[in-house]
Amino acid sequence: MEIILYPNKILREKCDEVKEFDQSLDRTVLDMLDVLYKKNGAGIAAPQVGIKKRIIIIDTGKSPLILINPRILKKEGKETFEEGCLSFPGIFLKIKRAKKVKVEAQNTKGEKIELEAEGLLTHVLQHEIDHLDGILFIDKIGFFKRWQLRRKLKNIAKGKKSEKSS
Ligand code: CO
Repeated sequence: MEIILYPNKILREKCDEVKEFDQSLDRTVLDMLDVLYKKNGAGIAAPQVGIKKRIIIIDTGKSPLILINPRILKKEGKETFEEGCLSFPGIFLKIKRAKKVKVEAQNTKGEKIELEAEGLLTHVLQHEIDHLDGILFIDKIGFFKRWQLRRKLKNIAKGKKSEKSS
């Protein structure tokens, strides 16, 4: 399974809620884990492997956190962190997001889970949940910064990889 790169239109679609917690969900999760570790990422969302479903996986160094139908219940504070995205190899951007979040989701069995996060995990959570609504990290920067990135974005679109990917 390959990672979907910018500007593929699937990255702009709103993903559907997962309703069936079956083998096909398990297969998707395994495929996503495979890509996440192969690419050495901190997080991945299903649309990045071409699947329009509300599934994200995060691994900030401990063990993978698999969240189905994640939803942010509460946000607190503001903090800036440098982020990368598997769909934008070589691009790193300082993004301002909530400092703390409370998230509700389901596990792969469909059981409800709730978690509160701070630091790096909060940022990855918000970044990945954004993917499920077709929101990308380049949407969070100003127009001038985006203009400065135009050449790098063009290179990604052309399939050129001049720098180390995230
Ligand atoms: Co991303």
